[in-house]
Amino acid sequence: MKIAVIGATGLVGQKMLQVLAERNLPIDELIVAASERSIGKTTNFKGKPYTLISVEDAIEKRPDIAIFSAGADASLKYAPLFAAKGTYVVDNSSAWRKKEGFPLVVPEINASDITTDTHIIANPNCSTIELVMALAPMHRRYGIKRIVVSTYQSVSGSGIKGLNQLHLEQRGEKSENPAYPHQIHENIIPHGGNFLEDGNTTEEEKLIFETNKILHSKIAVSATVARVPVFGGHSESVNVEFSQPYDLQEIRSILEKTPGIIVADNPSENLYPTPLIAYDKDEVFVGRMRRDNSIANGFNFWVVSDNIRKGAATNAVQIAEYLIKRFFDL
Ligand code: A2P
Repeated sequence: MKIAVIGATGLVGQKMLQVLAERNLPIDELIVAASERSIGKTTNFKGKPYTLISVEDAIEKRPDIAIFSAGADASLKYAPLFAAKGTYVVDNSSAWRKKEGFPLVVPEINASDITTDTHIIANPNCSTIELVMALAPMHRRYGIKRIVVSTYQSVSGSGIKGLNQLHLEQRGEKSENPAYPHQIHENIIPHGGNFLEDGNTTEEEKLIFETNKILHSKIAVSATVARVPVFGGHSESVNVEFSQPYDLQEIRSILEKTPGIIVADNPSENLYPTPLIAYDKDEVFVGRMRRDNSIANGFNFWVVSDNIRKGAATNAVQIAEYLIKRFFDL
């Protein structure tokens, strides 16, 4: 297997390399690429240095799989060029998620959306992944009519720029290249991405659209995205309206048996998911499960996951694992 990581110097790209090593994918040749400014520099994989090359050179090497985390512009430009050479592309940007014919995949839920003629597979937004991981088993069992989700997203979701801004502000300094239009230290910013005409932001729109594309559903989704001064781990408060009466204990036991989910829910011991509990873990943590008695069939929960792992790198590597099993017979 020849595997390429495009955007290998970034926060997610580096985590992809780490997860590829941890999960021990059968890699015979690793190709690492980034922007012009990184060419010739090295990055490590399994303790060995690898030289960064240009994306053009990576295309010529015809990798079996290219995992992208280089932003939407690079992905729009280069993913089709890889695909034309027969490479399977797993793309972490928003470039292909909304396009018809491009599967948007969380492997535990909808890997079967990948067909033999798919060559570009989109990795969902970090907040969507943890949300649908929790919703999918509930939706299968009871059917979900509507959800109201509010996110508390960490600064690592904005890459190195976001981390730098919070680090600097914590030291009383100002970032010259800030990720956000306001100070994030000691603040909460209810603004993710750009504002749309209807008042939602692009990050809110992603939650609305991607949830239904992945679950093949028509769930009404109301979303509010907020950035909080936390370095890693996205938290979400989720209010669910089921289509029929449900059993709270059954939801709990379904989630406990769902691969990739950890139920952390014991109020008597102050146990509930937090970003620090989820830090550097591949699982999605669910807690604060309770009835919402303000509506019929209402249910509340709280979900947290490491946005750089399951929210990005781990999910992308899991898609690569699925491709290897299905198309390369290894
Ligand atoms: P580089 O480090 O050379 O700029 P992050 O989101 O953490 O900032 O990471 C973005 C990643 O995408 C980096 O690896 C960056 O490389 C890479 N990248 C950005 N633009 C391009 C491009 N046009 N072609 C290839 N890689 C790119």
